[in-house]
Amino acid sequence: MIVGCQWGDEGKGKIVDVLAEDADIVARYQGGANAGHTVHVGDEEFILHQIPSGVLHDGKRCLLGNGVVLDLLQFFEEFDALAERGIDLAARVGVSERAHLLMPYHRVLDKASERRASEKIGTTGRGIGPAYEDKAGRRGIRVADIRNPERFEQLVADGVERARAKLSAMGQEDDGTLDAAVTRTLELRDRLDVIATDPGWEIVHALDAGKSVLLEGAQGTALDLDHGTYPFVTSSNTTAAGAATGVGIGPTRITDVFGVVKAYTTRVGNGPLPTGFDEEMDERMRQLGGEFGATTGRPRRCGWFDAVLARFSARVNGLTGLAVTKLDVLDTLPEISIGLEYCTEDGGCTREFPADTFALARVEPNYETLPGWEEDTTGCRSLEDLPRNARAYLDRIQELTETPIRMVSVGTRRSQIIHVD
Ligand code: IMP
Repeated sequence: MIVGCQWGDEGKGKIVDVLAEDADIVARYQGGANAGHTVHVGDEEFILHQIPSGVLHDGKRCLLGNGVVLDLLQFFEEFDALAERGIDLAARVGVSERAHLLMPYHRVLDKASERRASEKIGTTGRGIGPAYEDKAGRRGIRVADIRNPERFEQLVADGVERARAKLSAMGQEDDGTLDAAVTRTLELRDRLDVIATDPGWEIVHALDAGKSVLLEGAQGTALDLDHGTYPFVTSSNTTAAGAATGVGIGPTRITDVFGVVKAYTTRVGNGPLPTGFDEEMDERMRQLGGEFGATTGRPRRCGWFDAVLARFSARVNGLTGLAVTKLDVLDTLPEISIGLEYCTEDGGCTREFPADTFALARVEPNYETLPGWEEDTTGCRSLEDLPRNARAYLDRIQELTETPIRMVSVGTRRSQIIHVD
């Protein structure tokens, strides 16, 4: 399993793409079109929102689990765009019959409630919160419902009516987009029916047959609905345990959990970022790392590596290994810091990630500063190739997280990866 250990955008897409080579099935287990996984193959760049990153390898089965909220319009747009670029998914992709549909009205509601909120989450506007609300409220529409046209149409009509009422309660009117988009959703039913499946069944049978399965997480630990910086989180369980429920297998079937961390920290959307840079350094890192959202294009806030969060992620996810990405982005820095602990105004310091998000917003991290390496690492293919100070930096991350580093990424290409061990 691959799981994000910060606030998303750790570079999971690339790690999944590289590991997918040895997998028979790649499955996503939560989130929806809020994700934006950027993968480079040769000179081509692919940004995947809903389809698993493993799709860029021929012959791999790609599944979307029941934990995903499926935006049909966006999904088939992505599907067709990949087909145009020569990647035919028809026989390879499957969607859980138990997955909930993210309807066009969920997007409208997401944007409307963000506009009105006094405390804005800074969502991606993709309808994620409202779709999971309907799921938990037991009024959602599942993929399996398309098999009963009458019931499906009734559920959709009820959903539109509810959305209209909610909009009106928020002082906003539907400009007609609700009905238009619903018509399009209904048209896509037959295409969806063909790819509907039971990923849990497929995965367990594949494992029993000695095949290999990769579970692909979206977003990151600090955005987890239960363990993240609530309320500035997404509406799904991004952490490792979410994968078992999200595809429908028992946790005992999961043998390896790789946590992906960027060599520094970024965050997009609102909420605290304890190791955040000052304005000048923030801008510098954003340019060095190309830190703009893959889904929304929003600038990401940047900061030093936060060892408190990484240790928390290692614990909450039960990590068996770390994949450190974008190490090369630090190549030109003379000094590099790591946030070691969080200190409060009264002088108390802690190495535990606090539950109180508003207290987190007030902490001042204690840093340890290491010398940079000021050398190009993009050509390194083994730990021995790396400059001494870069190795020392990685050793320190490994020590602080008590997790072995298994992969290091030093560029966007598939080949720019160091496999440890
Ligand atoms: P939502 O998932 O669109 O509801 O957004 C909730 C929070 O999660 C916001 O801060 C978003 O910026 C953040 N978020 C959602 N998806 C991603 C992602 O794929 N990468 C980084 N941040 C994300």
